[in-house]
Amino acid sequence: MNFTLSEEHLAIRQAARDFAQKECLPGVIERDEHQKFPAEQIKKLGELGFMGMMVSTKYGGSGMDTLSYAIAIEEISKVDASVSVAMSVNNSLVCWGLETFANEEQKIKYLIPLASGEKLGAFCLSEPEAGSDATSQSTTAIDMGDHYLLNGTKNWITNGSSASIYLVIAQTDVAKGHKGINAFIIERGMEGFIVGAKENKLGIRGSDTHTLLFNDVKVPKANRIGEDGFGFKFAMKVLSGGRIGIAAQALGIAGGAYELSLAYSKQRKAFGKEIMHHQAIQFKLADMATEIEAAKLLVYKSARLKDAHENYDLASSMAKLYASKVAMETTVEAVQIHGGYGFVKEYHVERMMRDAKITQIYEGTSEVQKIVISRAVLS
Ligand code: CAA
Repeated sequence: MNFTLSEEHLAIRQAARDFAQKECLPGVIERDEHQKFPAEQIKKLGELGFMGMMVSTKYGGSGMDTLSYAIAIEEISKVDASVSVAMSVNNSLVCWGLETFANEEQKIKYLIPLASGEKLGAFCLSEPEAGSDATSQSTTAIDMGDHYLLNGTKNWITNGSSASIYLVIAQTDVAKGHKGINAFIIERGMEGFIVGAKENKLGIRGSDTHTLLFNDVKVPKANRIGEDGFGFKFAMKVLSGGRIGIAAQALGIAGGAYELSLAYSKQRKAFGKEIMHHQAIQFKLADMATEIEAAKLLVYKSARLKDAHENYDLASSMAKLYASKVAMETTVEAVQIHGGYGFVKEYHVERMMRDAKITQIYEGTSEVQKIVISRAVLS
């Protein structure tokens, strides 16, 4: 495997790093405190070409590779994971899903505004009774001849109230199990589509997470993605790539907490010297640096496999499982290194610790990743 980043990748890293410092750092504590969606940051990311990074220029994207995208997510997550999750869902679940599986008419109508950052997308799979067990969809889309009639509730939807285009997974034929599931493109404003309650969350509090309700929504036949019954495979394929984005987010959260801990240990004095001179701190930093490097190798490997058009399902699950564990452990240690300062908001690491937890839950819990990994290694 090639461990060297190209000039282009290094330039993207610098651009994302600059963006995070200039545009995301100011106000990050307040957005977290007040659960304020980073609308300005998302708009500017669109102008920078970061909302449809992997989409070809033909459809309004930037035509970059998956590794570039992972690097950008990593850098932005070092500062604000609420910005990076909105970016990740739009890029890898919505835009990649549409470019790969939608028809030409759908791409022109929906992908171009999403990839260019003009509109924001959301991906709607989870339900009150269907999280990890994604085949148990209760949302139904009944074929009415010239349209589908959509009814049901979706939970924990990222970009829930800020999006205007939603990819919704629904059961069209219960008797067929997962082969009777379809994916639909739903527009904000369709009659019967209601944005429900906003979640009050532990972490990624700037990201707006909502319940969505569908009451007799008439969905045109033209809005179904792929062949009849393709919806579950669509969701699985999209999530497999999405896990690279969330793994990169976890890597970035860990990296951000590590960089702050390193800087703090060089200036904070205890027992007559900077705390970096104490072995208790040195060993924590050594563990953090090693685990982050190992997580980075897994994340970048999964991105490179995707770019090489090789199977990346196993690699993306491994990357997400490991990077999210590293994010959790690193942020807990970062708070410990900061001592009492780590427990207050001005020092950022307490927020990072809260944000890290979601990376072990969304786009498949750690347990779901272990299902994917164990099936692959046992097969
Ligand atoms: N690519 C293509 N097809 C796939 C696939 C993949 N990666 N994974 C599974 N499939 C196919 C299988 O081949 C099978 O098809 P056939 O019957 O034709 O062979 C079909 O899908 C069913 O697969 P399984 O039998 O493996 O399904 P399962 O019920 O055992 O579930 C699971 C497997 C891995 C647990 C899956 O349900 C899963 O990934 N669950 C987690 C869902 C998830 O990630 N939810 C997150 C919500 S989205 C989110 O969080 C976004 C956000 O807002 C941030």
